[in-house]
Amino acid sequence: MSDSIESVLQENRRFPAPSAAAARMAKWLVPSMSDYKRLHARSISDPEGFWGEVAKELHWFKPWSKVLDWKVPDAKWFVGATTNVCYNCVDRQVEQGHGDMVAIVWEGEPIGSGGRPDIRRLTYNDLKRDVSKFANALKALGVKKGDIVTIYMGMVPEVAIAMLACARIGAAHSVIFGGFSTQAIVDRVLDAKSRTIITCDGAYRRGSVVPLKESVDAAVAQLAQAGHEVKNVIVHSRVGNQTAWHSGRDHSFKDLLLASSDQCPCEHMDSEDMLFLLYTSGSTGKPKGILHTTGGYMVHTYLTSKLTFNLIPDDNQLYWCTADVGWVTGHSYILYGILPNRVPTLMYEGAPNAPKEDRFWDMIARHKVTHFYTAPTAIRAFMKWGDEHPKKHDLSSLRVLGSVGEPINPEAWMWYHETIGSSRCPIVDTWWQTETGGHMITPLPGATTTKPGSCTLPFFGVDAAIVDESGNEQPHNTGGLLVVRKPWPGMLRGVYGDRERFIQTYFTRVPGMYFTGDGARRDADGYFWIMGRVDDVINVSGHRLGTMEVESALVSHDAVVEAAVVGMPHEIKGTGIAAFVTLAPGSEPASPADADKLKNALREHVSKEIGAIAKPDQIRFTPALPKTRSGKIMRRLLRAIASGDAKITQDTTTLEDYTVLAKLRESEEA
Ligand code: WTA
Repeated sequence: MSDSIESVLQENRRFPAPSAAAARMAKWLVPSMSDYKRLHARSISDPEGFWGEVAKELHWFKPWSKVLDWKVPDAKWFVGATTNVCYNCVDRQVEQGHGDMVAIVWEGEPIGSGGRPDIRRLTYNDLKRDVSKFANALKALGVKKGDIVTIYMGMVPEVAIAMLACARIGAAHSVIFGGFSTQAIVDRVLDAKSRTIITCDGAYRRGSVVPLKESVDAAVAQLAQAGHEVKNVIVHSRVGNQTAWHSGRDHSFKDLLLASSDQCPCEHMDSEDMLFLLYTSGSTGKPKGILHTTGGYMVHTYLTSKLTFNLIPDDNQLYWCTADVGWVTGHSYILYGILPNRVPTLMYEGAPNAPKEDRFWDMIARHKVTHFYTAPTAIRAFMKWGDEHPKKHDLSSLRVLGSVGEPINPEAWMWYHETIGSSRCPIVDTWWQTETGGHMITPLPGATTTKPGSCTLPFFGVDAAIVDESGNEQPHNTGGLLVVRKPWPGMLRGVYGDRERFIQTYFTRVPGMYFTGDGARRDADGYFWIMGRVDDVINVSGHRLGTMEVESALVSHDAVVEAAVVGMPHEIKGTGIAAFVTLAPGSEPASPADADKLKNALREHVSKEIGAIAKPDQIRFTPALPKTRSGKIMRRLLRAIASGDAKITQDTTTLEDYTVLAKLRESEEA
């Protein structure tokens, strides 16, 4: 990235919230800073009153007896209430007379022979019909309330139908990003003991086809060897791929819909019943299943969607979040938070540069998108591709721009503001995590003065703070650990099947508080500036990876004895992956060409073990890794070497072997 930490620290540009008219909004729902302050103060002093009122905007079969029950680390929200998330997303809109309104606009990646892509528009009526049918089909296959259904699909409307159908019958879903490998499917299915997988024959991605069903078939075979039987695989045919068909086990998505009734009542779910699992990387071990429940998650994602993006149902809005539904952003801000707000949500199947680098801008102009939510890594790629691409298109429909997934560098922020938003659209830089369920620190577009690079101020009900290891709040502009001191409705309720890991990861480092894993500082205005992860998690293109996961993948290759993985600055990805690898005797390459071959083989191996996003950007072979006398790998040093820091001034007196350092610097880059 071209912005150094110093330039972020010295950032003093300010962008006051524009008037609603300037942003072409009907109105701002939170129209001023004093409104924000008043409501935030109330939400902190009386969270139960605040969230109780918000929850009443949604539908419940049975009201709660108590809004919150909290005993660290366990939160129960809307105690005793029953509701259904699918009902609030779909049925309620139909019952209120909006069945003919568009709920989901979908655009496929391939451009057909007529020069047009496939576009589908699903109304709330369509959704209710197909979701009910698919829900009945799941039931007929034996899926029951409380079961966990695995979903491994591309970005097609059927993924939304599948997720909502699970929610309808009270089965939890575990969505696996379609870019993950067979091994990742095996790990997640086994951890969740899931017996049903919903997939596609393939997915279109940048002009080629990703063979999803093949990966599922391989995973199911491996699972069988491990003694776990997957009973049903449901296949949506998207690309017309001929794959092996296992009769009895495999079912066609389409045939199931045809054979099922469209009448399926929504299950009455306890507010604390599981809604979904979503696996995410941590600093140790395999990815963990973050567990989210029903009532609190629904209320949190509903309100954040409404206020962060200023969603107003009858204001000609079309909201577009470019995330994949395999990540939490897709769960919360393509589907679950947006649909209850009755603003249509656009889903796009493919890559931003398919067929050309202007695909997103072309889509914004054609569909008249009003709200656009994407990641800094994408914004940096757009900048690099050049202004001519957005300049070719009419982007005047845009009203609010969002950013998520990693810190946005001020240069990218300014480009987004000026080139995409014509200096007219407020930018909401939303900080949150898989674990938090929804936005935690974010500007409100009509109220907050923004500063490029800062996610600004906490959302309602969020008591975020910067503390030292003992939980003492840090003075202004002093870095520390980002924690949340009070429970919020969308917070994770656990790590699936691992109570100890839940407590250890989130509630031990700073006792009594939720620890985010991020370092941050607050400036004199109370604005938050996220500095990045303080644990061994790296954020590659906005996707979380544990360095240990990548190390384990490398070490599982026959040629590797030991590996250390660290993050390094990367112009587009934000953070790239650097791997230091010690080879097994006899595996050392004989020539530079051999070395390249081996590096490529290792990259492919990591891709097979985890997924393409985990491929190291740099691999260096080294005879040994620098360690302290107690045997700990000196990651700080490796980070300095990987980022090309020529003069390593850090204290290296504990280095076990000084020559290792010299050799590492010599080691040729990938
Ligand atoms: C980082 C994605 C700075 C952060 C929603 C967090 C951010 C991790 C921002 C969670 C932001 C996310 N500014 N950093 N606006 N948003 N992060 O679980 O390090 O995939 O802990 O959730 O991404 O990543 P996750």
